[in-house]
Amino acid sequence: MKAIEITEPGGPGMLRPCTRPVPEPGAGEVLVRVAAAGVNFPDVAQRRGNYPPPPGASDLPGLELAGVVVARGPGVAAPALGEAVCALVSGGGYAEYCSVPVPQCLPVPDGLDMVEAAALPETFFTVWTNLFDGGRLRAGETVLVHGGSGGIGSTAIQIAHAFGARVFATARTAEKCAFCEQIGAERAIAYRDEDFVAVVRELTEKRGVDLILDMVGGAYLARNLRALAVEGRLVQIAVMEGAEAAIPLGLVMVKRLTLTGSTLRPRTVAQKGAIAEALRERVWPLLADGRLRPVVHATFGLDEAAEAHALMESSAHIGKIVLTN
Ligand SMILES: NC(=O)c1ccc[n+]([C@@H]2O[C@H](COP(=O)([O-])OP(=O)(O)OC[C@H]3O[C@@H](n4cnc5c(N)ncnc54)[C@H](OP(=O)(O)O)[C@@H]3O)[C@@H](O)[C@H]2O)c1
Repeated sequence: MKAIEITEPGGPGMLRPCTRPVPEPGAGEVLVRVAAAGVNFPDVAQRRGNYPPPPGASDLPGLELAGVVVARGPGVAAPALGEAVCALVSGGGYAEYCSVPVPQCLPVPDGLDMVEAAALPETFFTVWTNLFDGGRLRAGETVLVHGGSGGIGSTAIQIAHAFGARVFATARTAEKCAFCEQIGAERAIAYRDEDFVAVVRELTEKRGVDLILDMVGGAYLARNLRALAVEGRLVQIAVMEGAEAAIPLGLVMVKRLTLTGSTLRPRTVAQKGAIAEALRERVWPLLADGRLRPVVHATFGLDEAAEAHALMESSAHIGKIVLTN
């Protein structure tokens, strides 16, 4: 089969087409003929050499896909051959075929095409577990989503809004801020021109927000803690501006804050399967009736994976980038 491999750590040019054997589905796995594969920032980190695949995972990039089941491993009764699925994988999505653990498969929601379905798993699994498991979000609470216009951010704004939260977001440009407000943010904050701490405090009558989903880290840590309300939760899902930061512990005590975070990829199949079940029950109906919709900024052929990564690194995209076969 055709696939895209990372020849050595480096720039987008290190993504090269190659030929690999079609994977054999193991026990509890299905083989999917990949119609489309989502591009995520962790793929860029892997390509740069900063995010190695966990033990046992494919060395090929690609954490999510949509396609058709063409073979089943031992012990698999469902999904059926020919069924359209989208799936979270721990690698190997940038290829014509990929083996997927059954618990990580979900049906392609009614009304979505393969490109849209391929744009779902990585951000929907990540956002769901961080907003609701780690972040303990409840309807009526306030949420600040950093990086609101990217794949994770656009999913977080939509899901938090759909589940009854008041959502604020940060983004770099006026165009990106307008997008965040179109998809459910009550107010987007242009972080280069405005101080998100001051804006959030003003919008909440000085109370602060109940939850912050942050991928920036570094100097944002102290500012995030200042922007949180009493009993607020900060959920860290990436550290684009630095993994080390000083914690104002006084604020943690006085406001009884929770600082938590997670990474999705190293979790077990059972843990990912539990998130898939929650998504199937609570979120897939909202995709099927149009209340939620992934926003796809651009598609590229599998051979153009390097161009797709260059676009992601430019941060010119709004929403998701998807590769098609
Ligand atoms: N923990 C997990 O399980 C998990 C899972 C998936 C992804 N992630 C992480 O989540 C992040 C987003 O992933 P993604 O696939 O959604 O990427 P993405 O589509 O590229 O979105 C990232 C957004 O962050 C903003 N940004 C970039 N650099 C920034 C900076 N220095 N300060 C503030 N904002 C910045 C950009 O928007 P602006 O132009 O507005 O700055 C960009 O749209 C990545 O860091 C990724 O590694 C974590």
